[in-house]
Amino acid sequence: MTQPSPKHALITGGGTGVGAVIALALAEAGMKVTISGRRAEPLEEIATKSELIHTVTADVTDESSVAAMFEGARKAHGPVDIVIANAGAAESAPLSKVSLEQWQRLIDVNLTGVFLTAREALSDMRAQGWGRIISISSIAGRKGYAYVVPYCSAKHGVIGLTRALAAETALQNITVNAICPGYMDTPLVDNSVAIIMDKTGLDEEAARASLTATNPQQRMIEPEEVAEAVLWLCGPGSQSITGQTISISGGETT
Ligand SMILES: NC(=O)c1ccc[n+]([C@@H]2O[C@H](COP(=O)([O-])OP(=O)(O)OC[C@H]3O[C@@H](n4cnc5c(N)ncnc54)[C@H](OP(=O)(O)O)[C@@H]3O)[C@@H](O)[C@H]2O)c1
Repeated sequence: MTQPSPKHALITGGGTGVGAVIALALAEAGMKVTISGRRAEPLEEIATKSELIHTVTADVTDESSVAAMFEGARKAHGPVDIVIANAGAAESAPLSKVSLEQWQRLIDVNLTGVFLTAREALSDMRAQGWGRIISISSIAGRKGYAYVVPYCSAKHGVIGLTRALAAETALQNITVNAICPGYMDTPLVDNSVAIIMDKTGLDEEAARASLTATNPQQRMIEPEEVAEAVLWLCGPGSQSITGQTISISGGETT
């Protein structure tokens, strides 16, 4: 009997943080993986850990760069079956200090990047009659947090995009879901901790504790917990899970 060929997953922002952990988990599960990001170095470092991982540099805010990202991925591993729209960035400031340029930059990477990535994925998925689109939103997509209006707005937007696209692809065997993690120990949070320390004078331990204070479990989420959810959404038996936002947050948000 012939084995089904392994799925091909494209992960944006796959060179660092939770994206890298997801990439390694999917490769470990035998999938063909393409990881992308703007910097080649972290991508190449992750690719040394598995021969199933291919790298392509791309900026998810740039339409032609996203098209080239898919071309590079297809050239290496064939049509894309699974997309993890994970690339993102966080910056904090009170709204009165947010410039239009900063607002636009955060919307571009956290929301427009998901739109461009999901849109480009649809042709392969429709042609194959199977697809999984998973976005990494945030607890900030489920609840408002002070000093992160652009980030919160974009992450809420990802949830709207997820629900609407899931309705659009419901009859095409393509599921569309968003995962909403609480704070995780990644480079993105290192940056937030540095800002808190700078603005408040708290030491590092206190700054990290301030981020988990609203989490009922009082801890950071492990990126591996997110990777487990991704594996489940891509595995057998998940075909009815679509248009959902899955909170992995120790109970911080529903
Ligand atoms: N850490 C948390 O507490 C937390 C909680 C909830 C949700 N999230 C979400 O999880 C996702 C991953 O973040 P992380 O925590 O793993 O932090 P991270 O390590 O900083 O990951 C962000 C990734 O996105 C890539 N990226 C940023 N801008 C990009 C662009 N314009 N084009 C292409 N790639 C870009 C970065 O690579 P380059 O710089 O090389 O482009 C990097 O690999 C983000 O969407 C974030 O909002 C994080």
